[in-house]
Formats: sequence, C-alpha cells, structure tokens
Amino acid sequence: MLIAANWKAYVEDFATAKKLVEVSKKLSKETKHQIILGTPAPFIGAFAHKNTSSVAFASQDVSASIGGAVTGEVTAAAVAAAGATYTLIGHSERRAMGDTDAVVAEKLARALAHNLIPILCVGEKERDDDGRYLATIREELTSALDALTSRERTQIIIAYEPLWAIGKTAADNVIGANDLAEMALYIRKVLAELLPGKSSAKTVVLYGGSVEPGNIRALAGGSGIDGFLIGHASANVAMFTTLVRNLS
Ligand code: PGA
Repeated sequence: MLIAANWKAYVEDFATAKKLVEVSKKLSKETKHQIILGTPAPFIGAFAHKNTSSVAFASQDVSASIGGAVTGEVTAAAVAAAGATYTLIGHSERRAMGDTDAVVAEKLARALAHNLIPILCVGEKERDDDGRYLATIREELTSALDALTSRERTQIIIAYEPLWAIGKTAADNVIGANDLAEMALYIRKVLAELLPGKSSAKTVVLYGGSVEPGNIRALAGGSGIDGFLIGHASANVAMFTTLVRNLS
C-alpha cells in the first residue's frame, strides 16, 4: 500500500527528521509498502536532493504563484528542484488558512506543470443526516479537477480526510471500515464522471484522519482504499515504525 506521511510542523529539528527518514527507508524495504515523506519545506532540500532511495518526498503545500516578487512563497518549481516528487494540496489546515477551491485548483496546475504528483486532500467538516457531506466531496473534487486536462486528471492522488476525524486517536474510533468503504466507493464514482474512460479505476485513493498503529489494519481491510495519509503518528519514530509494520 501507499503510506504518505504528513509531518505537519511536528518535526522541527534536523536530528529527528534524519531519524525518521532513515527508519522510513528501512521500513519500505522491509515491508514493500511505498512510503512518501511530507516534510516541512526546508527538510526537502536536505534529504531529497538527487534522491534515489526507497522513499519519496513530498511538499506539504505549494504556492499558487509562478514565482518572482512573492516573498516567502515556496513554488512548485523550487519544491521539484529540491527533489520532491509529490505535494499535498488542499489539506484542511491550509484551507482553514485561506485556500479556497479556486486556490486549490491553481496549486494543482502549478504542481502538475512541474511534474509533482499532487495528493489532493478533500473532506467534509461534519456528517449530517441528509448526506450533504457527499455534496461537499463532489464539489471539492469537481472544482479542483475542472480546469485540468484529461491526462492531468489521471495523475492525481486523492486523500479523503474528514475534518472531524483529524488529530484524534485510534481510541476515538474515528471512522469505521464500513463508512470508509462507502466513501471510497463514492469518491471513485465521482472520479469516474471526471476522468476519461475507465482511468479512474487506477486513481490512488488514500484515507487520512487519526490513523495509528491500533486501527490501521482494520481500516485497510476491505475498505477499498489504496493507502493512508498519516499525520501525528508519522512524526514519531516508534509510532510510525509500529504503524507501518502493523499494516504488513
Ligand atoms: P492525523 O492527521 O493523522 O494527525 O489525524 C492527518 C492529516 O491531517 O493529514
């Protein structure tokens, strides 16, 4: 399966980052799971430049700008030059800081223009009895892919991350395998409408939100997802090691 780590801003020192990178390389060889490390931007250059190892690197975001006089922005071109091959886009924590659907769409275009594979995060704030949360997911997917070519649409990874499930623990029983299976099916149905031919069958769909060593196996079994986007549990060496091994 694919395990994408989102270190967020949990990892702030070089020694911890180095340990997590080394452990991840070992784990990917040992378990054959594909591991992508979403590190804070400064660490990409330190670890990913000319990377030929068993792990890949992702940026946690890219700028919607194309460079130039935009102080402080980290562009897709710079992220790609530093050695990342993936980028998260539209994470709920970025959306909460102002990324609208339109901005998310621009960022997708920037990433694809520099051959970064986008991991597009979508997810509802809360569940309601009328199924309006399904419309939220449809809107997020549709507006994000709208301006892209058919070919570009086939290159995107989707991470389903319901906001109500982020930042809790496995003990909170955040989402059940059945609910997750239903959402994976729904996302694939929407993608089938947006992608050319039968190509949506090949889209990688991840789940994220309080995935920990204690629930990863149950969530993987029969839920129809292709992997996970892991937040807090990916920023701790012991927890991440157990989590990856528990999936095997
Ligand atoms: P969490 O974060 O695993 O800490 O819930 C997931 C995410 O926000 O990507």
